[in-house]
Amino acid sequence: MKDKTFLMIPGPTPVPERVLLDMAKHPIGHRSTEFSKVLESIYSDLKMFFRTKNDVLVFTASGTGAMDAALSNLVNKGDKVLSLVIGNFGQRWAKIAKNYGAEVQTIEVEPGQAINPDELRKVLEADVNKEIKIVTLTHNETSTGVTNDLKTLASIIREHGAISVVDGVTSLGAIQCEMDEWGIDVLISGSQKGFMIPPGLSFLAANERAWAVAEKCERPSFYFNWASNRKSLLENSTAFTPAVNLFMALKSALEMMKDEGIENIWLRHKRNAKALRAGIRALGLKLFVEDEKIASYAVTAVLPPENISVPDIRKVLKNDYDIVVANGQNKLKDKIFRMGTLGFVSERDVITAIGSLEATLYKLGYKFEPGVGVGAVIKEFMK
Ligand SMILES: Cc1ncc(COP(=O)(O)O)c(C=O)c1O
Repeated sequence: MKDKTFLMIPGPTPVPERVLLDMAKHPIGHRSTEFSKVLESIYSDLKMFFRTKNDVLVFTASGTGAMDAALSNLVNKGDKVLSLVIGNFGQRWAKIAKNYGAEVQTIEVEPGQAINPDELRKVLEADVNKEIKIVTLTHNETSTGVTNDLKTLASIIREHGAISVVDGVTSLGAIQCEMDEWGIDVLISGSQKGFMIPPGLSFLAANERAWAVAEKCERPSFYFNWASNRKSLLENSTAFTPAVNLFMALKSALEMMKDEGIENIWLRHKRNAKALRAGIRALGLKLFVEDEKIASYAVTAVLPPENISVPDIRKVLKNDYDIVVANGQNKLKDKIFRMGTLGFVSERDVITAIGSLEATLYKLGYKFEPGVGVGAVIKEFMK
C-alpha cells in the first residue's frame, strides 16, 4: 500500500493535514493587507515559542540560512569566535565563522557527548583580555542525539561577556529553550522540525546586546541583513518576496502549537523519547547516548544489533512498513540509525515505530521475543 509514509527522521518532520490544506491554497500577494495580517500573527506567535520579547526575523531559507544570517551580521574579519562542537551542526557554526574571516577556536568532544560546563568556564576564564567576541553552540545536536545543558552554558558565556549564538533548529518547539530567561543573545531555528511545516523557512531572534554588535558589523549580508529585515517586520511585511504558502502553513501550525500549549509540547516530546528509548532497550539494542541527562527528546540514535546492518534495517523499515529513519552522518554513517520524535509525533506513532522495528529485526534474523519492545513502550507511557 502506498501513501502511508511516516517520516521518523529528525527533519523534515510529519506535517499535520490541516497545515497541508492551508498551504495548498492559491498564493496571495505578499504586499496585500491579508498577508500583512498573517505576518502580524506569525511575528507575535513566534516570540511565544522563542520565549522572548525580541523580534523574531523570518527568512525564506533553510536552517543553515539562519545560521548564516546570525554570523554574517556579527563577525568582522579577525574576530575571535569560540565554537562548541559536539557534532556536525556545531562544526557548521565553526565553518561559517571561518567563512567570514573569524579566528576560530573550538572546544570539541567525542560524538555522543555534551559540552562540559567546567571546560567552557576554564577556556573563557583563560581569556582574561576578553578577546573572544562570540561563542557558538548547538542546543540539540541532531547528528548524535545529544542535548547540551544550554541554561548553564549560556550563563557561563554571559559571565564572560561574549555574545552567545545558539542553534535551536531541533530544540525549539520540542525541548525547553528560554531565550530571555537563560540570557541567550542570538537564537535561530528552522521550519521543518518542531514547527511542523515543510523545509524552507528559518528564524532568528537577537537581543539588544547582539543588535549593538551587529551595528558595528562592517559588511553584513544583504539578503539576511538584520536591520532591513527588522524594518520590514515592524511594518508587518517582509524585505523580499517570501515563500507565501509556507507562511500560510506556519500560521496554521503556530495555532495548533498554541492550542496544545508549549509546556505540553515539551512534555509530549519527553514522554515520546523516553518511551522510544525504553522500547529500544527492551529489544536489547544499544543507545548511542546512554546518559539520560544528555539524551535528546527530539532524536534518538541507536546502534544496530551485531551482524545486522543499518542499511538493511532502514531498507526493510521503509519498504515493508513505510517508516523512514535516518542513517548516521559522516563517520557515523552505517554505524547508527536515528529516529526522530520531533514535531507532529504522537504516542501511537512511537508504538507503531517500535512495533515496525521489531518486525524488521525479526525478518532480518535478530533473536528476541516479539512484543518485548512494544510492551516496554506501553509500560513507559502508562507511568
Ligand atoms: C541542529 C541543526 N542545525 C542546523 C541544521 C541545518 O538546517 P537545514 O538543513 O535546514 O539548513 C540542522 C538540520 O538538520 C540541524 O538539525
